[in-house]
Amino acid sequence: WVAPTLALVGGYLLGSIPFGVILTRLGGAGDLRRVGSGNIGATNVLRTGRKGLAAATLLLDLLKGAAAVWLAQAFAPGEQLLAAAGALIGHCFPVWLGFRGGKGVATLMGVVLALHWPLGLVYAVIWLGLLATVRISSLAGMAAAVSAPVASAALGRFDLTLLLIALALIVLWKHGDNIGRLLDGTEPKVGKRG
Ligand code: G3P
Repeated sequence: WVAPTLALVGGYLLGSIPFGVILTRLGGAGDLRRVGSGNIGATNVLRTGRKGLAAATLLLDLLKGAAAVWLAQAFAPGEQLLAAAGALIGHCFPVWLGFRGGKGVATLMGVVLALHWPLGLVYAVIWLGLLATVRISSLAGMAAAVSAPVASAALGRFDLTLLLIALALIVLWKHGDNIGRLLDGTEPKVGKRG
């Protein structure tokens, strides 16, 4: 039971590092949780007007998800799915922020990329494609998250499908407010303050 526990807890601890909050504070842009949607992700960092910090948040939130899986592959072979789950749960429910974390889109991308890179490619194309065209971050992120289990089945990686369904459901659940705003037609587009 040592390896599974280490993978899950290690993944959680990595995932729970709130890079958006840390970078925004270090960059002198205040408390991210008091900006825009209050979310701790890169989209909300962008609303502070600090593009560099937003890009760094995106990259680091993605990398911590990938790192959790890579570390498990190296040190706890066979436990990479637990590390993946731990990382996403850590990002979405970090103990350091009273379990009020992010929405998981970037971290799930890192997880998916490390589990099976073609899935990461599909995820990135859907996410960035919708972001560039529709320009609604939440919609693009949710579509990408849902694409992961579908693509895993389409590519024959059924071993990943159940986990990816569960992780996509967490991402959707964390977007409850966004779904409400999308239905109201009040969800802000990227590039505008909201
Ligand atoms: O990745 C988070 C994104 O999907 C939504 O962020 O700040 O617009 O709620 P936000």
